Amino acid sequence: MGAQDSREISDQGKGPGHVAIIMDGNGRWAQARGKPRLFGHHAGAKRVREIVEACPDLGVKYLTIFAFSTENWKRTQAEVSGLMLLFRRYIQKEARDLFERGVRVRFIGDRIKLDSKLVDLMDELELMTSENDRVHLTIALNYGGRDEVARAARRLAHDVALGHILPQEVNEETLPKYLDTYVLPDPDLVIRTSGEARISNFLLWQSAYAEYEFIDTLWPDFSSEIFAGIINNFGKRTRRFGAVAI
Ligand code: IPE
Ligand code: IPE
Ligand code: MG
Repeated sequence: MGAQDSREISDQGKGPGHVAIIMDGNGRWAQARGKPRLFGHHAGAKRVREIVEACPDLGVKYLTIFAFSTENWKRTQAEVSGLMLLFRRYIQKEARDLFERGVRVRFIGDRIKLDSKLVDLMDELELMTSENDRVHLTIALNYGGRDEVARAARRLAHDVALGHILPQEVNEETLPKYLDTYVLPDPDLVIRTSGEARISNFLLWQSAYAEYEFIDTLWPDFSSEIFAGIINNFGKRTRRFGAVAI
């Protein structure tokens, strides 16, 4: 067994440095209260601050959250435009606080389809927080794992055509450099709320060896206590990465 393997297996008992969350269940949360779906999205957005704030004490350096998928455009126009407005307001409202709390914000996903006003706000927030290092918050917005890999392949093909990289140099180390997540470590733990046990096109490449936690709680009810419980449980898992546990 190589040094790399023994180091990874001895990770048992360590917390997850990178947690990714599929924030699902806003619509059902609102429905249960006889309210429109957007009411649930607003309640869901309010939860994010508490979870980001809980990260440093839990040893979570990277938090990646799924806010809008490439498939979510299939929803009604009213819901989609309500969500887009919510994202804009959210950035305007939270930017200073995120900056002051040492949060470095990044966005992943395809920006092409997003409104230019929203994209400007995303760029500004990324720039404004670029020196921060307390927590790295990545927001997946118009993100799809397949779309990300396809866009990466397109840019890679372009570089091959230009002679910047040789076909035989395309491998597991070079391809991820073209992904939106190229500066991030792979997620150690992926949490999905709302009782659905599927990944819905989230971080397909990056989560090859992530641990998964599917919980019934709807996202607007997800508290820092629930989050802490999941992080503590993670330490009891044995990750093998295809090898044999020691
Ligand atoms: C997740 O909540 C938020 C987004 C996908 C934008 P949903 O809107 O999917 O809520 P449910 O799954 O319908 O309850
Ligand atoms: C996944 O939730 C996307 C986000 C949380 C942003 P969905 O509600 O869109 O996933 P499906 O449709 O239930 O698979
Ligand atoms: Mg859903």
